[in-house]
Amino acid sequence: MDRKTDSAFLRQFSGVIAGFVVLTIALIFLARYIQPEPLEDANPSHRILAEQRVTPVGAVRYGEAGAAAVAEAQAAAAEAVPAEDLVVDGAAVYGGICKTCHDAGVAGAPLTGSEQMADRLAEKGLETLVYNAINGINAMPARGGNPTLTDEQIQAAIEYMLP
Ligand code: HEC
Repeated sequence: MDRKTDSAFLRQFSGVIAGFVVLTIALIFLARYIQPEPLEDANPSHRILAEQRVTPVGAVRYGEAGAAAVAEAQAAAAEAVPAEDLVVDGAAVYGGICKTCHDAGVAGAPLTGSEQMADRLAEKGLETLVYNAINGINAMPARGGNPTLTDEQIQAAIEYMLP
């Protein structure tokens, strides 16, 4: 390569870079023209719900103190969600996760709509059933394994499960 081809290359290369710079600036102005202000989130609870969802994953758990801190953060996040914004639909909650075990009686899970559920209700009362579903009992995982479900959603699912 001699000096001439070097400088020819440099000239062309700078031309290409300059072209891209102009294109970038043009695109920035075009974008601002199309969407002058960032869109408001249509549902303000989206952010809160997302935070609530990642809380148990994003937090560092260490020993009992860690677990307590996570529980506290979850409680705070749950409180921050306006109740009326959440869907409390027993059938939907049930279909989402509880069904996996309670449709087939996995690991001795009481069958939905069966005598087994009626017996448990008669024996323990709704409050205890809700408490146990929230905290877990034997092979029944806490909140069915979905920590983002609220107490109200769990109760709605249980009411749906009763015969
Ligand atoms: C991984 C399987 C599994 C999932 C998922 C699951 N359960 Fe259960 N559930 C069980 C088992 C097993 C039992 C029986 C526990 C026992 O009494 O030994 C049970 C028991 C229960 C009971 C009776 C508790 C009691 O005190 O007698 C309720 C109420 C209940 N589940 C509600 C739910 C709800 C609501 C969901 C969904 C949010 C759910 N379960 C998801 C396995 C599951």
